[in-house]
Amino acid sequence: MIEAVELTKVFGVGSTNPSTVLDRVDFRVEQGEIFAVVGPSGAGKSTLARCLNLLERPTSGQVIVNGEDLSSLGSTQLRDARRRIGTVFQSASLLSRRTAADNVALPLEYLGATKVSTKQRVAELLDRVGLADKAGLYPHQLSGGQRQRVGIARALALKPSVLLSDEATSGLDPAATDTFLRLLTEVRDDLGLAVVFITHEMDTIVRVADTVGRLDGGSLVERGRVADLVLDPESPLGQSLRPRGPSADTASGQSAISVIYNSATVPADWLTRIGGNLGIPIAVLGASVQTVDGVSFGDLTVSVPIGHAASFVGSAQELGITARVLDRHQVEVAA
Ligand SMILES: Nc1ncnc2c1ncn2[C@@H]1O[C@H](COP(=O)(O)OP(=O)(O)O)[C@@H](O)[C@H]1O
Ligand SMILES: [Mg+2]
Repeated sequence: MIEAVELTKVFGVGSTNPSTVLDRVDFRVEQGEIFAVVGPSGAGKSTLARCLNLLERPTSGQVIVNGEDLSSLGSTQLRDARRRIGTVFQSASLLSRRTAADNVALPLEYLGATKVSTKQRVAELLDRVGLADKAGLYPHQLSGGQRQRVGIARALALKPSVLLSDEATSGLDPAATDTFLRLLTEVRDDLGLAVVFITHEMDTIVRVADTVGRLDGGSLVERGRVADLVLDPESPLGQSLRPRGPSADTASGQSAISVIYNSATVPADWLTRIGGNLGIPIAVLGASVQTVDGVSFGDLTVSVPIGHAASFVGSAQELGITARVLDRHQVEVAA
Protein backbone atom coordinates (compact mmCIF):
# COMPACT_ATOMS: atom_id res chain seq x y z
CA MET A 1 0.00 0.00 0.00
CA ILE A 2 0.96 3.59 -0.36
CA GLU A 3 -0.43 6.37 1.75
CA ALA A 4 -0.03 10.13 1.59
CA VAL A 5 -0.62 11.90 4.88
CA GLU A 6 -1.12 15.66 4.79
CA LEU A 7 1.45 15.77 2.00
CA THR A 8 2.50 19.36 1.41
CA LYS A 9 5.00 20.89 -1.00
CA VAL A 10 5.91 24.55 -0.92
CA PHE A 11 8.36 25.83 -3.52
CA GLY A 12 10.46 28.84 -2.58
CA VAL A 13 10.28 28.40 1.18
CA GLY A 14 11.89 31.43 2.78
CA SER A 15 11.63 33.51 -0.40
CA THR A 16 9.37 36.53 -0.70
CA ASN A 17 6.65 34.62 -2.53
CA PRO A 18 6.60 30.93 -1.61
CA SER A 19 4.07 28.90 -3.58
CA THR A 20 2.13 26.01 -2.10
CA VAL A 21 1.81 23.43 -4.87
CA LEU A 22 0.51 20.55 -2.73
CA ASP A 23 -1.68 21.34 0.23
CA ARG A 24 -2.22 18.57 2.79
CA VAL A 25 -3.01 15.82 0.31
CA ASP A 26 -4.35 12.65 1.94
CA PHE A 27 -5.10 9.30 0.35
CA ARG A 28 -4.39 5.62 0.72
CA VAL A 29 -4.08 3.01 -2.02
CA GLU A 30 -4.22 -0.69 -1.12
CA GLN A 31 -2.41 -3.53 -2.91
CA GLY A 32 -4.38 -4.48 -6.00
CA GLU A 33 -6.05 -1.07 -6.24
CA ILE A 34 -5.70 1.46 -9.04
CA PHE A 35 -6.16 5.01 -7.75
CA ALA A 36 -6.40 7.64 -10.46
CA VAL A 37 -5.44 11.26 -9.86
CA VAL A 38 -6.95 13.66 -12.32
CA GLY A 39 -6.66 17.40 -12.62
CA PRO A 40 -5.98 20.25 -14.99
CA SER A 41 -2.50 21.25 -16.07
CA GLY A 42 -0.67 22.95 -13.20
CA ALA A 43 -2.82 21.25 -10.54
CA GLY A 44 0.26 19.70 -8.94
CA LYS A 45 0.00 16.16 -10.34
CA SER A 46 3.65 15.76 -11.33
CA THR A 47 4.79 17.37 -8.09
CA LEU A 48 2.65 14.81 -6.28
CA ALA A 49 4.30 12.01 -8.29
CA ARG A 50 7.79 13.29 -7.44
CA CYS A 51 6.92 13.68 -3.76
CA LEU A 52 5.42 10.17 -3.63
CA ASN A 53 8.58 8.55 -4.96
CA LEU A 54 10.70 10.96 -2.94
CA LEU A 55 12.52 12.40 -5.95
CA GLU A 56 11.35 15.58 -4.28
CA ARG A 57 11.33 16.01 -0.51
CA PRO A 58 7.88 17.03 0.71
CA THR A 59 7.85 20.23 2.79
CA SER A 60 5.70 18.44 5.36
CA GLY A 61 3.53 15.36 5.66
CA GLN A 62 4.34 11.72 5.09
CA VAL A 63 4.62 9.10 2.40
CA ILE A 64 4.01 5.67 3.86
CA VAL A 65 4.71 2.50 1.88
CA ASN A 66 3.76 -0.85 3.39
CA GLY A 67 3.61 0.76 6.81
CA GLU A 68 7.00 2.51 6.63
CA ASP A 69 7.28 6.30 6.58
CA LEU A 70 9.68 6.98 3.71
CA SER A 71 9.73 10.72 4.32
CA SER A 72 11.53 10.21 7.64
CA LEU A 73 14.40 8.15 6.20
CA GLY A 74 17.95 9.34 5.73
CA SER A 75 19.39 9.28 2.22
CA THR A 76 21.02 5.81 2.41
CA GLN A 77 17.92 4.09 3.73
CA LEU A 78 15.81 6.09 1.34
CA ARG A 79 17.69 4.77 -1.67
CA ASP A 80 16.74 1.26 -0.61
CA ALA A 81 13.17 2.13 0.25
CA ARG A 82 12.58 3.90 -3.05
CA ARG A 83 12.91 0.53 -4.78
CA ARG A 84 9.43 -0.26 -3.56
CA ILE A 85 8.03 2.35 -5.92
CA GLY A 86 8.37 1.92 -9.69
CA THR A 87 7.62 4.97 -11.83
CA VAL A 88 6.56 5.36 -15.46
CA PHE A 89 6.75 8.92 -16.73
CA GLN A 90 5.25 10.58 -19.75
CA SER A 91 7.16 9.35 -22.83
CA ALA A 92 9.15 6.88 -20.70
CA SER A 93 12.37 8.96 -20.77
CA LEU A 94 14.49 6.06 -21.98
CA LEU A 95 18.20 6.52 -22.58
CA SER A 96 18.53 6.92 -26.34
CA ARG A 97 21.93 5.25 -26.63
CA ARG A 98 20.86 2.09 -24.85
CA THR A 99 18.80 -0.72 -26.31
CA ALA A 100 15.41 -1.62 -24.85
CA ALA A 101 17.05 -4.44 -22.90
CA ASP A 102 19.82 -2.20 -21.55
CA ASN A 103 17.26 0.41 -20.48
CA VAL A 104 15.37 -2.21 -18.50
CA ALA A 105 18.67 -3.42 -17.03
CA LEU A 106 19.58 0.02 -15.70
CA PRO A 107 18.00 -0.23 -12.21
CA LEU A 108 19.46 -3.74 -11.82
CA GLU A 109 22.94 -2.46 -12.71
CA TYR A 110 22.66 0.32 -10.11
CA LEU A 111 21.79 -2.34 -7.61
CA GLY A 112 24.90 -4.34 -8.51
CA ALA A 113 23.05 -7.42 -9.75
CA THR A 114 25.21 -10.01 -11.55
CA LYS A 115 25.31 -10.05 -15.35
CA VAL A 116 23.64 -13.46 -15.48
CA SER A 117 20.76 -12.60 -13.16
CA THR A 118 20.29 -9.23 -14.88
CA LYS A 119 20.08 -10.86 -18.27
CA GLN A 120 17.52 -13.35 -17.08
CA ARG A 121 15.40 -10.76 -15.29
CA VAL A 122 15.45 -8.39 -18.29
CA ALA A 123 14.30 -11.19 -20.60
CA GLU A 124 11.48 -12.00 -18.19
CA LEU A 125 10.40 -8.35 -17.98
CA LEU A 126 10.47 -7.73 -21.73
CA ASP A 127 8.46 -10.88 -22.21
CA ARG A 128 5.89 -9.69 -19.70
CA VAL A 129 5.32 -6.47 -21.62
CA GLY A 130 5.20 -8.31 -24.94
CA LEU A 131 8.49 -7.00 -26.30
CA ALA A 132 10.75 -10.05 -26.12
CA ASP A 133 11.54 -9.65 -29.83
CA LYS A 134 12.49 -5.97 -29.48
CA ALA A 135 15.21 -6.38 -26.86
CA GLY A 136 18.02 -5.22 -29.16
CA LEU A 137 16.25 -2.17 -30.60
CA TYR A 138 17.02 1.42 -29.63
CA PRO A 139 14.30 3.79 -28.41
CA HIS A 140 14.08 5.60 -31.77
CA GLN A 141 13.35 2.26 -33.44
CA LEU A 142 10.33 1.70 -31.20
CA SER A 143 6.85 3.21 -31.40
CA GLY A 144 5.64 5.52 -28.62
CA GLY A 145 3.51 2.71 -27.20
CA GLN A 146 6.41 0.28 -27.23
CA ARG A 147 8.63 2.81 -25.45
CA GLN A 148 6.02 3.14 -22.71
CA ARG A 149 5.95 -0.64 -22.33
CA VAL A 150 9.74 -0.65 -21.96
CA GLY A 151 9.11 2.04 -19.31
CA ILE A 152 6.78 -0.34 -17.45
CA ALA A 153 9.31 -3.16 -17.68
CA ARG A 154 12.00 -0.88 -16.25
CA ALA A 155 9.66 0.31 -13.48
CA LEU A 156 9.00 -3.31 -12.49
CA ALA A 157 12.67 -4.35 -12.57
CA LEU A 158 13.22 -4.11 -8.83
CA LYS A 159 9.92 -5.80 -7.92
CA PRO A 160 8.20 -2.76 -6.46
CA SER A 161 4.94 -3.01 -4.56
CA VAL A 162 3.77 0.39 -5.83
CA LEU A 163 3.58 1.52 -9.45
CA LEU A 164 3.34 5.22 -10.15
CA SER A 165 2.35 6.39 -13.62
CA ASP A 166 2.46 10.09 -14.52
CA GLU A 167 0.67 10.90 -17.79
CA ALA A 168 2.07 7.69 -19.25
CA THR A 169 -0.63 7.49 -21.93
CA SER A 170 -0.41 11.14 -23.00
CA GLY A 171 0.38 11.38 -26.66
CA LEU A 172 -0.28 7.69 -27.37
CA ASP A 173 -2.73 6.73 -30.11
CA PRO A 174 -5.90 4.87 -29.03
CA ALA A 175 -4.52 1.40 -29.82
CA ALA A 176 -1.29 2.00 -27.89
CA THR A 177 -3.32 3.48 -25.02
CA ASP A 178 -5.47 0.32 -24.96
CA THR A 179 -2.40 -1.89 -24.81
CA PHE A 180 -0.86 0.21 -22.05
CA LEU A 181 -4.03 0.17 -19.94
CA ARG A 182 -4.47 -3.57 -20.42
CA LEU A 183 -0.87 -4.14 -19.35
CA LEU A 184 -1.36 -1.92 -16.31
CA THR A 185 -4.36 -3.92 -15.06
CA GLU A 186 -2.55 -7.16 -15.88
CA VAL A 187 0.52 -6.35 -13.76
CA ARG A 188 -1.74 -4.98 -11.03
CA ASP A 189 -3.58 -8.33 -10.96
CA ASP A 190 -0.51 -10.56 -11.29
CA LEU A 191 1.77 -8.68 -8.92
CA GLY A 192 -0.85 -7.23 -6.57
CA LEU A 193 0.55 -3.73 -7.03
CA ALA A 194 -0.90 -0.58 -5.55
CA VAL A 195 -1.10 1.74 -8.56
CA VAL A 196 -1.24 5.55 -8.60
CA PHE A 197 -2.35 6.47 -12.11
CA ILE A 198 -2.00 10.17 -12.85
CA THR A 199 -3.72 11.47 -15.96
CA HIS A 200 -5.77 14.26 -17.43
CA GLU A 201 -7.65 11.82 -19.71
CA MET A 202 -11.03 10.99 -18.16
CA ASP A 203 -11.81 8.07 -20.44
CA THR A 204 -8.71 6.17 -19.28
CA ILE A 205 -9.89 6.45 -15.67
CA VAL A 206 -13.25 4.86 -16.35
CA ARG A 207 -11.43 1.96 -17.97
CA VAL A 208 -8.84 1.10 -15.33
CA ALA A 209 -9.29 2.89 -12.02
CA ASP A 210 -11.06 1.58 -8.94
CA THR A 211 -10.90 4.90 -7.13
CA VAL A 212 -10.21 8.44 -8.26
CA GLY A 213 -9.36 11.80 -6.76
CA ARG A 214 -9.50 15.19 -8.40
CA LEU A 215 -6.54 17.44 -7.68
CA ASP A 216 -7.14 21.15 -8.11
CA GLY A 217 -4.83 23.91 -6.95
CA GLY A 218 -2.82 21.39 -4.95
CA SER A 219 -5.76 19.97 -2.98
CA LEU A 220 -7.74 16.78 -3.47
CA VAL A 221 -11.13 18.41 -3.87
CA GLU A 222 -13.24 15.34 -4.65
CA ARG A 223 -12.70 11.61 -4.51
CA GLY A 224 -14.45 8.28 -4.40
CA ARG A 225 -14.99 4.94 -6.06
CA VAL A 226 -15.33 5.35 -9.82
CA ALA A 227 -18.39 3.08 -9.79
CA ASP A 228 -20.10 5.31 -7.19
CA LEU A 229 -19.17 8.61 -8.79
CA VAL A 230 -20.54 7.76 -12.24
CA LEU A 231 -23.90 7.06 -10.60
CA ASP A 232 -23.90 10.28 -8.59
CA PRO A 233 -25.78 13.06 -10.39
CA GLU A 234 -24.49 15.68 -7.91
CA SER A 235 -20.81 14.91 -8.45
CA PRO A 236 -18.86 17.13 -10.86
CA LEU A 237 -16.20 14.41 -11.07
CA GLY A 238 -18.87 11.80 -11.81
CA GLN A 239 -20.28 14.06 -14.48
CA SER A 240 -16.94 14.40 -16.24
CA LEU A 241 -16.27 10.65 -15.91
CA ARG A 242 -19.49 9.73 -17.67
CA PRO A 243 -19.02 9.40 -21.38
CA ARG A 244 -20.15 12.51 -23.21
CA GLY A 245 -23.88 12.66 -22.37
CA PRO A 246 -26.48 12.09 -25.03
CA SER A 247 -27.66 15.27 -26.65
CA ALA A 248 -30.85 16.79 -25.40
CA ASP A 249 -32.52 18.23 -28.43
CA THR A 250 -35.99 18.68 -27.01
CA ALA A 251 -38.97 19.81 -29.00
CA SER A 252 -40.91 22.74 -27.56
CA GLY A 253 -43.53 21.68 -25.06
CA GLN A 254 -41.18 19.01 -23.73
CA SER A 255 -38.94 18.81 -20.69
CA ALA A 256 -35.57 17.09 -20.92
CA ILE A 257 -34.59 14.83 -18.05
CA SER A 258 -31.21 13.30 -17.39
CA VAL A 259 -31.44 9.77 -15.99
CA ILE A 260 -28.70 7.72 -14.36
CA TYR A 261 -29.21 4.25 -12.93
CA ASN A 262 -27.46 1.05 -12.00
CA SER A 263 -28.64 -1.27 -14.73
CA ALA A 264 -27.95 -4.36 -12.64
CA THR A 265 -30.53 -3.47 -10.00
CA VAL A 266 -33.25 -1.83 -12.06
CA PRO A 267 -35.95 -3.77 -13.96
CA ALA A 268 -35.24 -3.94 -17.67
CA ASP A 269 -38.65 -2.56 -18.62
CA TRP A 270 -38.51 0.42 -16.26
CA LEU A 271 -39.11 2.99 -18.98
CA THR A 272 -42.26 1.29 -20.30
CA ARG A 273 -43.50 0.89 -16.74
CA ILE A 274 -43.12 4.58 -15.92
CA GLY A 275 -44.71 5.60 -19.21
CA GLY A 276 -47.62 3.23 -18.58
CA ASN A 277 -48.11 4.38 -14.97
CA LEU A 278 -48.10 8.05 -15.89
CA GLY A 279 -49.97 7.59 -19.15
CA ILE A 280 -47.59 9.86 -21.07
CA PRO A 281 -45.34 9.40 -24.09
CA ILE A 282 -41.64 9.36 -23.22
CA ALA A 283 -39.06 9.95 -25.92
CA VAL A 284 -35.52 8.68 -25.52
CA LEU A 285 -33.17 11.34 -26.88
CA GLY A 286 -30.00 9.38 -26.36
CA ALA A 287 -28.74 6.54 -24.21
CA SER A 288 -25.69 4.57 -23.32
CA VAL A 289 -24.90 1.70 -21.00
CA GLN A 290 -21.36 1.41 -19.67
CA THR A 291 -19.65 -0.99 -17.31
CA VAL A 292 -17.33 0.42 -14.70
CA ASP A 293 -15.58 -1.84 -12.23
CA GLY A 294 -18.21 -4.55 -12.71
CA VAL A 295 -21.13 -2.16 -12.25
CA SER A 296 -23.08 -1.41 -15.38
CA PHE A 297 -24.80 1.90 -15.42
CA GLY A 298 -27.21 3.53 -17.78
CA ASP A 299 -27.01 7.16 -18.74
CA LEU A 300 -29.77 8.58 -20.85
CA THR A 301 -31.75 11.66 -21.65
CA VAL A 302 -35.49 11.47 -22.12
CA SER A 303 -38.13 14.04 -22.83
CA VAL A 304 -41.65 14.15 -21.41
CA PRO A 305 -44.50 16.59 -22.00
CA ILE A 306 -44.05 19.76 -19.94
CA GLY A 307 -45.86 19.46 -16.63
CA HIS A 308 -45.02 15.79 -16.25
CA ALA A 309 -41.35 16.16 -15.38
CA ALA A 310 -41.84 16.06 -11.60
CA SER A 311 -44.04 12.95 -11.70
CA PHE A 312 -41.50 11.23 -13.97
CA VAL A 313 -38.72 12.02 -11.48
CA GLY A 314 -40.89 10.65 -8.65
CA SER A 315 -41.74 7.41 -10.46
CA ALA A 316 -38.11 6.89 -11.41
CA GLN A 317 -37.08 7.38 -7.80
CA GLU A 318 -39.47 4.63 -6.69
CA LEU A 319 -37.55 2.25 -8.94
CA GLY A 320 -34.18 3.36 -7.56
CA ILE A 321 -33.37 5.54 -10.56
CA THR A 322 -31.91 9.02 -10.28
CA ALA A 323 -33.53 11.53 -12.59
CA ARG A 324 -32.87 15.23 -12.83
CA VAL A 325 -34.75 17.78 -14.90
CA LEU A 326 -32.36 19.67 -17.14
CA ASP A 327 -32.93 23.37 -17.40
CA ARG A 328 -32.73 25.14 -20.72
CA HIS A 329 -29.10 26.11 -20.19
CA GLN A 330 -28.02 22.54 -19.48
CA VAL A 331 -29.96 21.33 -22.48
CA GLU A 332 -28.12 23.83 -24.66
CA VAL A 333 -24.76 22.83 -23.21
CA ALA A 334 -25.51 19.14 -23.70
CA ALA A 335 -26.71 19.60 -27.28
N1 LIG B 1 10.65 23.00 -9.07
C1 LIG B 1 9.64 23.88 -9.06
N2 LIG B 1 9.81 25.12 -8.57
C2 LIG B 1 8.79 26.00 -8.51
N3 LIG B 1 7.54 25.74 -8.95
C3 LIG B 1 7.31 24.53 -9.45
C4 LIG B 1 8.32 23.52 -9.54
N4 LIG B 1 7.78 22.40 -10.07
C5 LIG B 1 6.49 22.69 -10.33
N5 LIG B 1 6.20 23.97 -9.95
C6 LIG B 1 4.87 24.61 -10.05
O1 LIG B 1 3.92 23.79 -9.43
C7 LIG B 1 2.68 23.85 -10.10
C8 LIG B 1 2.21 22.45 -10.41
O2 LIG B 1 3.05 21.87 -11.39
P1 LIG B 1 2.94 20.32 -11.77
O3 LIG B 1 3.06 19.52 -10.54
O4 LIG B 1 3.89 20.07 -12.87
O5 LIG B 1 1.44 20.25 -12.29
P2 LIG B 1 0.71 19.21 -13.29
O6 LIG B 1 1.58 18.00 -13.41
O7 LIG B 1 -0.61 18.94 -12.64
O8 LIG B 1 0.53 19.92 -14.59
C9 LIG B 1 2.90 24.72 -11.33
O9 LIG B 1 2.40 25.99 -11.06
C10 LIG B 1 4.39 24.72 -11.48
O10 LIG B 1 4.83 25.91 -12.07
MG1 LIG C 1 2.35 16.88 -15.02
